[in-house]
Amino acid sequence: MALSLVSLKEFQMNLRSLFLQHVGQTSVMPMMLEVAKAEGMYIYDQDGKAFLDLNSGISVSSLGHRHPKVVDAITDQLGKHMHTMVYGEHIHTPQVLYASTLAKALDNGLDAVYYVNCGTEAVEVAMKLARRATGRRQILSCKNAYHGSTMGAEALRSDYEFTRTFFPSIPDVDHITFNDESDLENITHKTACIILEGVQAEAGIRSPKDDYLIKVRQRCDEVGALMILDEIQTGFGRTGHLFAHKKYGFVPDVLLIAKGMGGGMPIGGVVASKNLLDTFTKKPALGHITTFGGHPVCVAAAMATLDVLLADDQSLVQSVLEKEKLIHELLVHEIIQEIRSDGLMMAVELTKRKYLKHVVEKTISNGALIDFFLFDDRSFRLAPPLIITEQQIREGVDKILSACDYAKAQYR
Ligand SMILES: Cc1ncc(COP(=O)(O)O)c(C=O)c1O
Repeated sequence: MALSLVSLKEFQMNLRSLFLQHVGQTSVMPMMLEVAKAEGMYIYDQDGKAFLDLNSGISVSSLGHRHPKVVDAITDQLGKHMHTMVYGEHIHTPQVLYASTLAKALDNGLDAVYYVNCGTEAVEVAMKLARRATGRRQILSCKNAYHGSTMGAEALRSDYEFTRTFFPSIPDVDHITFNDESDLENITHKTACIILEGVQAEAGIRSPKDDYLIKVRQRCDEVGALMILDEIQTGFGRTGHLFAHKKYGFVPDVLLIAKGMGGGMPIGGVVASKNLLDTFTKKPALGHITTFGGHPVCVAAAMATLDVLLADDQSLVQSVLEKEKLIHELLVHEIIQEIRSDGLMMAVELTKRKYLKHVVEKTISNGALIDFFLFDDRSFRLAPPLIITEQQIREGVDKILSACDYAKAQYR
């Protein structure tokens, strides 16, 4: 560790206050977990206390932490080369291997990947692609969706109280209600695209009803709008299928991936037909460029992650539904109203809002990590790594149930 200005001892003693002083924060109450290491299902703090990870860093560490195949792939790639130049100019073996393997696994015409750094950038690219490909301006998204935090992606958020702070936003963005078929008539010949999630995550896990997404697909076809599916949380096995659109039986024009893609490394992708993606190559050329998107070390990690997910006839992905069922069976308490889930993305709704903070904080102090949602203040989030075992599910559920007892006791 390079500590020219502070001694190691002083640094460690003051880690928390130095963190608050020098590292940018997003809330006045950061969780302040001092991460020393993370392995498999557990994150360890500086005192060696283990925390069972029931969040996967919000659906990122689907294979757990430091999966050996991912670590090996990173090490191997580091031994060859790191950044040279990306966005389709230099030929990087990991990029080609990944894109062709993904195309084969998808097997539905989404046969090319434009690599980016994260989910938000994938969303930005998709919005630009839709406007460029259709020559139209209007972009639709769904109420209570979260697609990222940059100006463009933030414009897709329907929460006016939040977004107006940053106005003026990008123009010609409108919102419809997820799962409301009557709202689909707002997708018109003026619409460049609709961007929506496979399962609304931050709204507190709202799955598409019946054939809602198929109806969206049909409406987009009728009016020539692009259907852009954000599978940044739902992708890579989280719903018990490699991708949610496989489960719900349709093919989007553009598929957005990130989070679980990189096995813990930062990467995202815009997946579409090569024909559509090539729109960026002309009028204007360099339609979207990115210095680090598709960094070979990150793609190597993504390749190892995909290999693990595809292995043994996708047995890990297939195990998700049993694990989901077990959690439903075990996680029963008088202050739990309902559990909404789509595979291992779950919202546990409590009978009263006032219990939520107690349950989340106590579960964490009991040694299991759970989290809040952006747009649901009565539920907590469970999104454990897909590798979680039955024993670890029992361990996590026990910690949550004891936190529920604690929360209930606060109001006796
Ligand atoms: C559905 C969805 N889309 C997009 C994003 C943005 O991804 P990132 O944080 O990697 O930029 C997120 C992040 O939470 C997300 O949940």
